[in-house]
Amino acid sequence: MQILTKDTSVTLYNAHFDEAYHNVNDGALQETLHKHILPVLYLKKEVKVLNVLDICFGLGFNILGLHYAIKQWGFSGVVCVDSLELELVSDLCQHPYPKEFGTAKAMVSALAKESAFKQGDFSVALHLGDAREILRDFLKEVKKGKIAKYNVIFQDPFSPLKNHHLWTFEYFKTLYTLSSDDVIITTYSHNSCMLYSAFLAGFHSFKLVQKNVRDSVIFAKTQTLPKIDLEFVERVIKIDIEHKVKTNTNLKGLYD
Ligand SMILES: C[S@@+](CC[C@H](N)C(=O)[O-])C[C@H]1O[C@@H](n2cnc3c(N)ncnc32)[C@H](O)[C@@H]1O
Repeated sequence: MQILTKDTSVTLYNAHFDEAYHNVNDGALQETLHKHILPVLYLKKEVKVLNVLDICFGLGFNILGLHYAIKQWGFSGVVCVDSLELELVSDLCQHPYPKEFGTAKAMVSALAKESAFKQGDFSVALHLGDAREILRDFLKEVKKGKIAKYNVIFQDPFSPLKNHHLWTFEYFKTLYTLSSDDVIITTYSHNSCMLYSAFLAGFHSFKLVQKNVRDSVIFAKTQTLPKIDLEFVERVIKIDIEHKVKTNTNLKGLYD
């Protein structure tokens, strides 16, 4: 079922997970750009290669948004994306994507047909199946040095309540091993148990207080983040998980 979101972009409702693919009140396009794409491009503006792990592809907004924004932003590096997805939505080529995503049809049909898309220095590989199993294979490859570690991760499954095993301590441990020391992980969820799980796995978390959309979260391996000088980011606040744990003895991590 299609849902018209606040910014007039269209998302879908997933009956199996009983959740929409995007936040209706933020707007699908605004949520994509403000919570995921622009913070990453700002923090990675000097980087020559973005190795992106996209969890999960869904309607492809994060990858289409990245493709759109790197041109707007003038990012000139190489972008290699691994997108994970349980099952591609049927007729995705017919989805009424926002006009900003001019290449949507070409990208989505290439991914649906060949599980791959390439345009200049921008390439995407689509991996269909359970993300946890696919990540297990990636771990073996990373440990053998066969694939590069990821310096960007879009953490965008359904909510921890609906998609538990993509937010647990064990899952975040896997992300920790798969990612570089300067990784930036973007997400929309503020669930305290989930934040605690990521903390136990080694990640620090930061809240981005946003003007246009609800606040978002960045995970990093570093204790601090560089200043994010973006017009729509009002403040960046380090989330003090240790304090949360001390003041809320009922706070538990999420485990497999
Ligand atoms: C919130 S949507 C992702 C939205 C997407 N990032 C976008 O930009 O359109 C969540 C997606 O997670 C996928 N998913 C849920 N569980 C999964 C799993 N175990 N492995 C892979 N994908 C999964 C769903 O099929 C759905 O497409």
